[in-house]
Amino acid sequence: MSDFDMLPHHSVLRDAGYKTVGEVAEEGTHELSVRTGLTRETAAEIISKARRIAYASEFKRLESYLKARESVERISTGSRSFDELLGGGVEVRAITEFFGESSSGKSQLCFQLAVNVQLPKDKGGLEGAVIFIDTEGTLRPERILQMAAAKGLGRDVLSNIYAAQAYTTEKQIRLLESVFELAERLNVRLLIVDSLTANFRREFAGRAAMQNRSKKLNEFMEILRKFIRKFDAAAVVTNQISAEVDALTPAVRAVGGNIVAHSSTYSVLLRKARADLRIAKLVDAPHLPEAEVTFRITEEGIC
Ligand SMILES: Nc1ncnc2c1ncn2[C@@H]1O[C@H](COP(=O)(O)OP(=O)(O)OP(=O)(O)O)[C@@H](O)[C@H]1O
Ligand SMILES: [Mg+2]
Repeated sequence: MSDFDMLPHHSVLRDAGYKTVGEVAEEGTHELSVRTGLTRETAAEIISKARRIAYASEFKRLESYLKARESVERISTGSRSFDELLGGGVEVRAITEFFGESSSGKSQLCFQLAVNVQLPKDKGGLEGAVIFIDTEGTLRPERILQMAAAKGLGRDVLSNIYAAQAYTTEKQIRLLESVFELAERLNVRLLIVDSLTANFRREFAGRAAMQNRSKKLNEFMEILRKFIRKFDAAAVVTNQISAEVDALTPAVRAVGGNIVAHSSTYSVLLRKARADLRIAKLVDAPHLPEAEVTFRITEEGIC
């Protein structure tokens, strides 16, 4: 007996054009009732049975998860040690958060990744396009060109980066929603939000507004998660924190609403060392230890 034949009224279902259990599991009660002429009650029963059958097969042996993990795509930061810190680069279908004080290199990393994702796979890229949501007016195409030139790329890099500005949380959320439509026509592999938090912080200032701020921010992150799953893209977000906050423990910082670590997959704290040297510390990751590396920001970019 096939899975389909295990459904009640399977011949009626087949006559109505249903072919797979999955199809029935995803159907609405009303639609199924209309298409088959069965009562809503029966329709609901059939759908619930179909779900039990279909979802049971969603459990896969962990081996196949490991295979998927091993072939997960990544974007190189341009620094080998930084890539290693992240387990091989910025991961697709994950949200990577760079947080740190002003000038710590958050935006520079975003620019570099917007260039690198366009490179061929053997050069650390995914030959993909970029969506860039700029909330601080600090996106600099001339700096991106400089980094591109160092990789042997020309002005073409700019035509693969679709950028928009959002100076309110409302617009920031609406822009993200509209990105789904844009991505249908483009091979978007990287979505950048620089900065994720600035608008939220300004509009929801003070302790009293904290709850609303995190509610709105969670709403934004939820859409972001949907996006990366649907389009097989990486998300990179930045979050400015003040230097004093740097010294606090993560728990204290979280109370202050300074980090969004709970909703991003990887959290990287950036600090200035001397001159062009920067320190990157991985503070939160599902499978990697806390670790620190140094990298440099030069005219050629991140190295
Ligand atoms: N063309 C360049 N050549 C070398 N270094 C540069 C160049 N442009 C920027 N930088 C370095 O990058 C730093 C700025 O870093 P970045 O803009 O990424 O900071 P940020 O973390 O985004 O700060 P903020 O929170 O204020 O946005 C500068 O202070 C400088 O050290
Ligand atoms: Mg910046």
